[in-house]
Amino acid sequence: MADAVRASIHGRVNVLILGGGGREHALAWAIAKSPDCGKLFCAPGNAGIAAVAECVRMDIEDGKAVADFCKLMGVGFVVIGPEAPLAAGVADVLAAEGIPAFGPGAEAARLEASKSFTKEVCDACGAPTAAWARFSDAEAASAYVRERGAPIVVKADGLAAGKGVVVAETVEQALAAVESMFGGSHGSAGAEVVIEDFMAGEEASLFVLCDGENVLALPSAQDHKRAYDGDTGPNTGGMGAYSPAPVLTDDVERRAMDEIVRPVIAEMAKRGTPYRGVLYAGLMIEDGTPRLVEFNVRFGDPECQVLMLRLASDILPALRACAAGKLGEVGLDWTDGSAITVVMAARGYPGSYEKGTPIANLDAAAAVDGVEVFHAGTSSDGETTRATGGRVLNVSASGATLREARDRAYRAVGVIDWPGGFNRTDIGWRALARDSH
Ligand code: GLY
Repeated sequence: MADAVRASIHGRVNVLILGGGGREHALAWAIAKSPDCGKLFCAPGNAGIAAVAECVRMDIEDGKAVADFCKLMGVGFVVIGPEAPLAAGVADVLAAEGIPAFGPGAEAARLEASKSFTKEVCDACGAPTAAWARFSDAEAASAYVRERGAPIVVKADGLAAGKGVVVAETVEQALAAVESMFGGSHGSAGAEVVIEDFMAGEEASLFVLCDGENVLALPSAQDHKRAYDGDTGPNTGGMGAYSPAPVLTDDVERRAMDEIVRPVIAEMAKRGTPYRGVLYAGLMIEDGTPRLVEFNVRFGDPECQVLMLRLASDILPALRACAAGKLGEVGLDWTDGSAITVVMAARGYPGSYEKGTPIANLDAAAAVDGVEVFHAGTSSDGETTRATGGRVLNVSASGATLREARDRAYRAVGVIDWPGGFNRTDIGWRALARDSH
């Protein structure tokens, strides 16, 4: 490896992570173990992240504020966790200041920030996805819904914190969604609406590191989006996840890489807006054929937590290689075992919930064999840890098998004393059911 390449990927560096959820705690936990990691900062972080990084306050969507902090504190690498600072162009501002960052610039982040942009990119490179149309007024959108019939999918074009998608089973539901989006239910994100054909099949997620040209697929991981057992109840950001996910067979992964990911990465490079960071492809698989549901331009949360638990290599050189366009120079090793994470959420989530309820016995839970407790929404006054968000803890475990990982995680969940919280009791059930056949 030439010296210049080595210097852009290896060597001691102070790191800043942007974000304060379970994904960022898992990233901080993994990055802190790197021999190349100097001082580690996280903005805003949380009570769990404070154990491995110095938590700092700043407006993480203000690229100039982030760059000023980096210059002041000698930060040489920034890992951008959530989509909002990516869509706001923080990586672009940092690049202009000579500070490398993990995560795409604003134009490439449109793969998550604009549903219609993603559809256009897919159409341009032939990546399979559902037939679609874009509308900027309710009347035309409603006429289209009546013409296509149900089931049908209505999406706010912009970022809507995971809440801008309605899978309508009837024409009436679809018309109501159109009405509500154009009526401002998702603010400016719903100023344009994309309407897609419904895709039947089984959902799977594919995570891929990209450096603008080269790609490196990560192991499979799958979340559970519904709030309650049996995959029932309202949609959430994810109530748990596991890895590997048997639904993503080698054949489906190969097809998804060849037919969706590689063509899209090539198309983005051709447009002069190369994609660098992690690309999270939500897929629908029917009869072994994957089609794209959506992209996210960041790690899944809580999928990242199980991936970090299975990682057997140093993550930091791989993240730096994405930014440096040198992904071909690194590889990642993963354990053969399984990992699982159970989300503990505030009672009432994803609806309204109480904030500030106390949580006890976290150290005892973390002492269970194979368990890591990642914090997603907590604060601490030094004595008491309190819930500050909807999704609050990610009780995570690795094991030789998914069953072992699951048993360990739920043993730790049982140790945690948090009357204000709840969790699903069946994370991993689909994969476990496949196992026993
Ligand atoms: N777990 C789903 C997401 O991160 O969007």
